Amino acid sequence: MLVDTHCHLDFPQFNPDRDEVIQRAKENGVGYLINAAANLKSSRESCALAQKYPRIYACVGVHPHEADTFSPEAEREIKLLAKPPKVVAVGEAGLDYYRNLSPAEAQKKTFRSLINLAKELNLPLIVHTRSAQEDTLRILKEELPLKAVVHCFSGDADFLKECMDLGFFISFTCNITYEKAQGLRDIAKVAPLDRIMLETDAPYLPPQELRGKRNEPANVKILAGELSRIKGVDFSVLAEITTDNAVKFFNLK
Ligand code: NI
Repeated sequence: MLVDTHCHLDFPQFNPDRDEVIQRAKENGVGYLINAAANLKSSRESCALAQKYPRIYACVGVHPHEADTFSPEAEREIKLLAKPPKVVAVGEAGLDYYRNLSPAEAQKKTFRSLINLAKELNLPLIVHTRSAQEDTLRILKEELPLKAVVHCFSGDADFLKECMDLGFFISFTCNITYEKAQGLRDIAKVAPLDRIMLETDAPYLPPQELRGKRNEPANVKILAGELSRIKGVDFSVLAEITTDNAVKFFNLK
């Protein structure tokens, strides 16, 4: 069994065939799906999906692109939504200076608030970071989440070491299959398997063979295949270890 630890099934790209997408994930051995939240509305919808489908778990959070929408009211509602056992993490949370869709100051403030919310709720944190390694690490070191995963890992060897030293997990997406992603494959090769989780970030980042199409959780199987090749371990071993990591990290029941 595999786990897709980060997808966005609440997004409108899945409106026409959400049930089929979820069914295909199951048929491809993806037993659990963790739905990340982009904003308050998406947090609500993520929780609704987790209520409807037994194998879907929800996150609550605000993506750095939408950091300036995070208000005290939003925080209050997110706190109310974060009910166990189906809400398993706070995320997305982090910094994105690549696209800078929210002002950097708002991003930093919201990131700190969400880390503290995760601590208060005793939940792990899903970190999104892009072109912002230095500030991300500084804030994480200052606020110290209980548990964290750096999702869609795209950092260098130094960043990997920092994450490992802090006890964090990292998750890889299907972008490790891209022709130009040799640097990322080199990182994946040396990253310890007991700290790796798998994710699609669907509908984004489809694997190389499906580029230009919508990604979906079933494709975690393609990612697992590529990662088992990179690391030189059997598919079944890779599946077992990464699933075990996810089940423990998110406390899936
Ligand atoms: Ni995402």
